Amino acid sequence: MAQLSFNLDDKVFVVTGGSRGIGLEITRLLLNQSARVVICGRKQEGLEAAAAAFKADDRLKTVQAHVAKSEEVDRLFQTTIEAFGRIDGLINNVGMNIATSLVDADPGLWNKIIDSNLNGAFLCARKAGQLMRGQKKGKIVSISSIAARRSAPFMGIYGVAKAGIEMMTKVMAQELAPLNIQVNAVAPCMVRTKFSEPFWSNADLYEQIVKTVPLGRIAEPVDVAWPVLFLCSEASDFITGQTLMVDGGASAV
Ligand SMILES: NC(=O)c1ccc[n+]([C@@H]2O[C@H](COP(=O)([O-])OP(=O)(O)OC[C@H]3O[C@@H](n4cnc5c(N)ncnc54)[C@H](OP(=O)(O)O)[C@@H]3O)[C@@H](O)[C@H]2O)c1
Repeated sequence: MAQLSFNLDDKVFVVTGGSRGIGLEITRLLLNQSARVVICGRKQEGLEAAAAAFKADDRLKTVQAHVAKSEEVDRLFQTTIEAFGRIDGLINNVGMNIATSLVDADPGLWNKIIDSNLNGAFLCARKAGQLMRGQKKGKIVSISSIAARRSAPFMGIYGVAKAGIEMMTKVMAQELAPLNIQVNAVAPCMVRTKFSEPFWSNADLYEQIVKTVPLGRIAEPVDVAWPVLFLCSEASDFITGQTLMVDGGASAV
């Protein structure tokens, strides 16, 4: 795997939620391909830990920003342009969930989950699209979930938000195609990160989950990061408006 190259030399990417989990792994692969990367997260200590882990000062910038706050999103992209002069790709990676049944969900909780998962992705894609428009080139990749297509009790708001991301991906892909900007998504099954730890760390639950995955395991962050890298590269220039399932075959069953 180490010799695989997507030729991202000096290209500039924004990875939202790049301080941990899947976003951190995407950042690692982008830096390994000689790209320049700006990551955001809400907590400064997470950003500092990521920066310290990579020791890539000149090619990695961190910005403390909440993706659902438009002024903070503006600052994220302004910092990117000031630091690196352009933006070649956005990876809309931020996501969170708080399990709740739909009928019992407080409207405030609905707003919080939709804000972080969908509104944030929209604000970032909108800003990135506006900047890429002038360049007539760019890639927008969002992280959806198998939950966008497979309904599951207590995952309803999250599933609605991810389904929204997939429709946003298709519409933006059409709108931006004349400008040579490709817009795609990847939809993982369970991935071994902090986000899903309560599930995979429980042996009984883990056993139940992997029974639904033909490849017989959950995903590791790198399983998601490689397909994202492909969708960020010129190798995928004729692919747009798609959601690539990264689910060990679960959706094929
Ligand atoms: N793990 C899974 O099983 C799984 C499965 C399918 C899809 N996904 C999707 O994959 C993506 C990444 O998930 P993950 O498992 O890597 O999650 P994670 O380990 O919880 O990491 C989330 C990252 O996003 C940041 N973040 C969270 N809310 C934010 C906000 N409002 N604004 C800015 N940054 C924010 C976090 O940093 P701070 O806490 O400092 O903000 C962290 O860097 C998400 O979209 C998730 O829905 C995950």
